[in-house]
Amino acid sequence: MKPENAPAILFVCLGNICRSPTAESVFRAKVDALKLETPFTIDSAGILGVHEGALADARMRRHATQRGYHLESKSRQVTVADFDHFDYIVGMDKQNYRDLIARAPSAEAKKKVSLLLSYAPELSRSEVPDPYYGGEAGFEDVLDLIEQACDPLLQHILTAQHRK
Ligand code: 4NP
Repeated sequence: MKPENAPAILFVCLGNICRSPTAESVFRAKVDALKLETPFTIDSAGILGVHEGALADARMRRHATQRGYHLESKSRQVTVADFDHFDYIVGMDKQNYRDLIARAPSAEAKKKVSLLLSYAPELSRSEVPDPYYGGEAGFEDVLDLIEQACDPLLQHILTAQHRK
């Protein structure tokens, strides 16, 4: 059950085993550091359901652990109910964004969908690239981008909360 008035954020990538579990963990660490009164609901999911129930990719977990993030979530697919439950549905790349918009059940639900790097225009990157078929550097790139974009995302959400 979602706490009253607490924002709920869902991070989404293709498989929910690399990028979105990382974003979930990094964002949770940033929220925890603020010691807010109202706890945020933070989760992640995948466009695909092929890795349902699996822990994050071992390479992603290893790179994340080196920066102090312990990825514990298990992969699950995005559901129609997510568009009702979550206030912010944040994709990692443009295809995730398009797939989320296509699955959103209403115009109201479509408004909840955004792209993570849109909150950090100064990075001059629009997507967190899929690291799955690449080398080790790809996992570091994922962490660098997510760490930098989670701060402005959190500020954006806190500002929106204060306006309510
Ligand atoms: P993710 O990476 O979307 O960052 O979790 C991927 C993981 C698995 C697959 C694709 C992307 N896959 O096709 O199995």
